Amino acid sequence: MSPLGVIWTTLSRSQRRRFVVLQFLSVLMASSTVLGLAAVMVFLAVLADPALIDGHAPLRVLQDLVGGTSQEFMRLLGAAFSLVLISSAVLNVLGTRAAGRFAYSVGDRIREVLFAGYLRRDYLFHVRVGAGRLMDNVLNQSDRVTLTLLNGQLLFTNAVLTLLVVVSIAVVNPVVAAVGVLSLGGGYLVFYRLVRHRLAAHGRLQASLGAERIAVVEQSLFGIKYLLTSRAQPWVDQRLAAVTRAMSGSMAETQFIGRFPKYVLECLAGVALIACALFVSRGAANGAWLAQLSFFGLAGFRLLPAIQQIYAALVILRNNRPAIDNIAAELLSHPQAPATDTSAPAPISLQQAIELDAVSFRYAPHARRVLDEVSLRIAAGSVVGITGESGSGKTTLVDLVLGLLSPENGRIDIDGRRLEDATVPGWQASVGYVPQDVMILDASVRENIAFGLAPGEIDEARVREAAAGAGAAGFIESLPGGYAARLSANGANLSGGQRQRIGIARALYRRPVFLVLDEATNALDRDSERVVIDAVIRNRGARTLLIVAHGAALIDACDRVYELREGTLRERVPPLVPVRAAHE
Ligand SMILES: Nc1ncnc2c1ncn2[C@@H]1O[C@H](COP(=O)(O)OP(=O)(O)OP(=O)(O)O)[C@@H](O)[C@H]1O
Ligand SMILES: [Mg+2]
Repeated sequence: MSPLGVIWTTLSRSQRRRFVVLQFLSVLMASSTVLGLAAVMVFLAVLADPALIDGHAPLRVLQDLVGGTSQEFMRLLGAAFSLVLISSAVLNVLGTRAAGRFAYSVGDRIREVLFAGYLRRDYLFHVRVGAGRLMDNVLNQSDRVTLTLLNGQLLFTNAVLTLLVVVSIAVVNPVVAAVGVLSLGGGYLVFYRLVRHRLAAHGRLQASLGAERIAVVEQSLFGIKYLLTSRAQPWVDQRLAAVTRAMSGSMAETQFIGRFPKYVLECLAGVALIACALFVSRGAANGAWLAQLSFFGLAGFRLLPAIQQIYAALVILRNNRPAIDNIAAELLSHPQAPATDTSAPAPISLQQAIELDAVSFRYAPHARRVLDEVSLRIAAGSVVGITGESGSGKTTLVDLVLGLLSPENGRIDIDGRRLEDATVPGWQASVGYVPQDVMILDASVRENIAFGLAPGEIDEARVREAAAGAGAAGFIESLPGGYAARLSANGANLSGGQRQRIGIARALYRRPVFLVLDEATNALDRDSERVVIDAVIRNRGARTLLIVAHGAALIDACDRVYELREGTLRERVPPLVPVRAAHE
């Protein structure tokens, strides 16, 4: 399918209808403009020579109908033709507004469909692609669809206008029409052919620079702490300046390419008008040729900007082609539309065990195996600890159990049911997960704990219960505003340990049957960690826990402990007990 075809199929039904209506509107806009032009022409001619009315059947019939003196008829004719002009202006104003709104609504639609598609891709896709490119597609590249549509519409309206103007010139004088079209159209065509490839190259350059520009700003702001302490601002200044200058250089040149032929051709058209004047004044009688010439002048005055706009629109379309190709390819590979999966999956209960049987995993086809035939049984209601060196694969193991990643080999069963595409949504609705670094939303404490719910849907009692269960109630109540206090997205107004406790409360709010803590308390001091974990374990009820930790204190609290090393898992039972006894 062609890129534009892909975009067409992405549009909603009402958008497709609007598009068709807009095309009719474009034809109307162009025709009314030409009609207005003709009205002025006819009026001027009749005013100069009232005898023309007699030779013109429709006008004569009209005059007989209206009656009155010819003076009165002229005034009436003037008013009628003014009305034609006014209607044409109103139509053009409304049409322009409708076309603009439509183009922006299509940009929004593409943005929404694309983002919805990305959000429904699996975790491995996000791990591989990275956020920068996706952000650029959603935020910047989607706008180029809007730009393409706006210019496509301009192109169409002006093409119709040009055609009508040329036809009306041809009626009066075919030679002039042919000369005008060939010289003006041909001139622009030559320019366009000369710059075509350059425009596409600029488009590709702008796409890659756009992504880079986002990356520089994003990484600098996310890493603001490193940046400030390493005083690396000048380095970022330079990186940003380099990419923005390259970008604006390319944009400015594209813009220039779109504009400069205008001046060349305006000059040529002026010369052509003079030539025209000399040509028509030879054969025609006095007076009539002046009317004809003023018609050509007016027609040219309307024709030149129309052809210029066609050219400028072509320049922008060509420049945006690489972006449109890219967006179409993205839409094809992420075809889901938003709001199709509104029904929440039913949670699964955990009665017996989570079982991993010879599970292997690697991040990329030829990368080394992070996990190599790992088997593990997590009995329902038990507390299982995983330990191991940094980089040994603990988080990867957790992601597999959560259904975020799928095993390369082996199987994961929940109560004997295979964890696969069909069962993952229900399973994920049943688990609570606290990652190593907790993301804080730019919202109230309450909304942060009841993550993903609108303020009206939040159960206040449940929020407080979750906060108490995570040992977070104390510090939350001391915040100005308590549960209504606003937190900041980068978590800057919370300590690392406070963020982690918000993260645990967030997981508890869901009342999960299975709770996973991935080094979720490593920012807490030993005593607080112990208090929080003891509370989580004590209040677990029938809940099953998987705790990833380094510290012996935490590991002690587990029923069974496993250690990951070089991709394999071993249970670590006996040695721990004497070690702990010796310390206490
Ligand atoms: N997104 C990724 N792409 C490719 N390789 C990855 C990715 N994430 C992790 N790895 C690799 O997988 C291995 C295990 O990583 P993992 O995050 O599971 O370790 P971990 O045991 O949780 O470490 P830590 O204690 O530091 O959190 C690492 O050695 C790393 O090289
Ligand atoms: Mg980890």
